Amino acid sequence: MTKFPVDRFRQQPTPFYYYDLSLLHRTLDEIDKASSAYYGFKVHYAVKANYNPRILKEISRYGLGADTVSAGEIAAAVEAGFAAGDIVFAGVGKSDEEIAYALKTGIGCFNAESVPELEAIMDIASGMGVVAPVALRVNPNIDAHTHHYITTGLSENKFGIDMSMLAGVVDMCVASPAVSLRGLHFHIGSQITDMKPYEMLCQRINSLQDEYRGKGIIFDTINVGGGLGVDYADPDSVPMPDFKEYFDTFHRNLRLMPGQELHFELGRSVVAQCGSLISRVLYVKEGVKKRFAILDAGMTDLIRPALYQAHHMIENLTSQSDETSVYDVVGPVCESSDCFGEGEMLPVTRRGDIMALRSAGAYGESMVSRYNCRRQPSSYFSE
Ligand code: LLP
Repeated sequence: MTKFPVDRFRQQPTPFYYYDLSLLHRTLDEIDKASSAYYGFKVHYAVKANYNPRILKEISRYGLGADTVSAGEIAAAVEAGFAAGDIVFAGVGKSDEEIAYALKTGIGCFNAESVPELEAIMDIASGMGVVAPVALRVNPNIDAHTHHYITTGLSENKFGIDMSMLAGVVDMCVASPAVSLRGLHFHIGSQITDMKPYEMLCQRINSLQDEYRGKGIIFDTINVGGGLGVDYADPDSVPMPDFKEYFDTFHRNLRLMPGQELHFELGRSVVAQCGSLISRVLYVKEGVKKRFAILDAGMTDLIRPALYQAHHMIENLTSQSDETSVYDVVGPVCESSDCFGEGEMLPVTRRGDIMALRSAGAYGESMVSRYNCRRQPSSYFSE
């Protein structure tokens, strides 16, 4: 259970992100234990979830690879100590400069998402006299039953190569001296808490593998992306997902070929629960129908509620009251969607109280914006 150093918080300007590093370490230990039970399982951390330099350094020390989506993320990963060969580079819109930078850095693999992108990688690699390692991102048309903004594996999404077009793209790679085809890549969505979509993904991969083995093609790696969800409603009781169940699901359902590696790209499940956004109550405002607790943190500091109707547990860390009251907890930004929770039952809350928005370690600090000319929140660590 995260213990907050509230006395320290009182001295600090708010809002800021606070990271419980002991929980991060326990989570990484558990990932290591659960994944190393199986031969060839390798986890890449999805840098987009949180690229705070200290967090990246802590994660790189555990020997994870890095899953990146821009030259900036590649640079941040290298700077934090991730080995270049353990970096994969995904994304539907890699620019020529980013492709050249990734080749120069010597990354482990491009996850290519379309024919024109593959052509650009081939052109740039042959111009540089190098061979680009690539995996093809396949869109498996699986519904991950998650928020429509974070589902990625359906035919209607912009991501990946449609299964019906895959054979032609594989042939294109095999025929080109500028790329070396390493594997297939998938990612069906994010905040997935039910293992069924992953079981379906395994079945799709098994049949694809059978098809390609028939043609004499065996991939070095299969990459199943990320997406494992966390418990936003009860972060203290469930401080990390069941990693054993997750890796077991792939072990039981996926038929790997001898020597083949299975890659995972976990973001949220690594960092979400170790981070909280700490904020002060500026005002308690009595409306006609509602009572508002107005915080100094807003959607610019944590956009998930405004963008995905996500709910982060709200905790008053300083109220001494035994009584409760109902509040709409809102931010100061000039948008009605700048609301962290409606009808929140909280201990009686006053101006100056310190509040924690929990489970904010993933897609919190990494999605901060400067809208309204707001200051970037700083970050503090438990140790
Ligand atoms: N691999 C690929 C190709 C991805 O697109 C993503 C996330 C991941 C791995 C990591 O997924 P994770 O394990 O973190 O679920 N901002 C949204 C989430 C967007 C996820 C984008 N892709 C949110 O706050 O819910």
